Amino acid sequence: MSRMFRIAIDGPGASGKSTTAKLLAKKLGFGYIDSGAMFRAVTLKCQQSGIDPSNIANKDKVTEIAQNAKIQFPTLGQVELDGQNVSNLIRNSNITRNISQVASNPDVRNILAKQQRAMANGELPGAQSTGFIKHDKIIKGVVMDGRDIGTVILPNAELKVFIVADVRIRAQRRFDELKRRQGANLKETLDEVERDLEERDLADRTRSIAPLKKADDAVVLDTSHLSIEEQITAIEEMVYQRV
Ligand code: C5P
Repeated sequence: MSRMFRIAIDGPGASGKSTTAKLLAKKLGFGYIDSGAMFRAVTLKCQQSGIDPSNIANKDKVTEIAQNAKIQFPTLGQVELDGQNVSNLIRNSNITRNISQVASNPDVRNILAKQQRAMANGELPGAQSTGFIKHDKIIKGVVMDGRDIGTVILPNAELKVFIVADVRIRAQRRFDELKRRQGANLKETLDEVERDLEERDLADRTRSIAPLKKADDAVVLDTSHLSIEEQITAIEEMVYQRV
């Protein structure tokens, strides 16, 4: 099998990473792996099993849950946990608030890291690529987004992008997305969404294991004033320059 062109996209929450990564993957015919969704799915499985991940006494149980969770990406942007479609459930605020405990567990990270690398190399189903044609060659690849993809998971990725955006703009984007999904059921205010984002950013940046950090060789893309279409075009250009 020919080598995959691997695109690592990292950045804080609601920076436009996931939407950009997903649509970019669609445009290039690449697979898409949402690494955050894998941490979200493990957090959901803990909740469904009645395990509180914030209780340190449950550390081994949380690891066992991660080990046994079957997480797959059957189609672009859809997430399955043990055969169930959990794409919407994992976006709830009660998942988001508890995820830092799961994401800072080194054993959970190791378990998910192995799966993420195997998927990126095309060894596990979940992110199939049809690719695009350049100079009569088929270029296949994968887009993976997260916090530590360029630094820890795929340090040799063919392209690394670090997305940043102003926190108020990110909060507004996340708020709009929650409103779209939950409509009148949405309880949080824009200020609360912003506070949650800041707290999670701080936890992601300052944790000792795999913190959110720009890789030395990553390209920084500030999306504060870019549309999704402009973000995709910017990264697409970077890909074409490199193949
Ligand atoms: O990207 P998303 O907001 O879905 O990620 C949710 C959380 O999962 C992040 O705040 C972070 O704590 C964790 N995460 C991580 N490493 C990744 C992706 C996500 O620790 N590669």
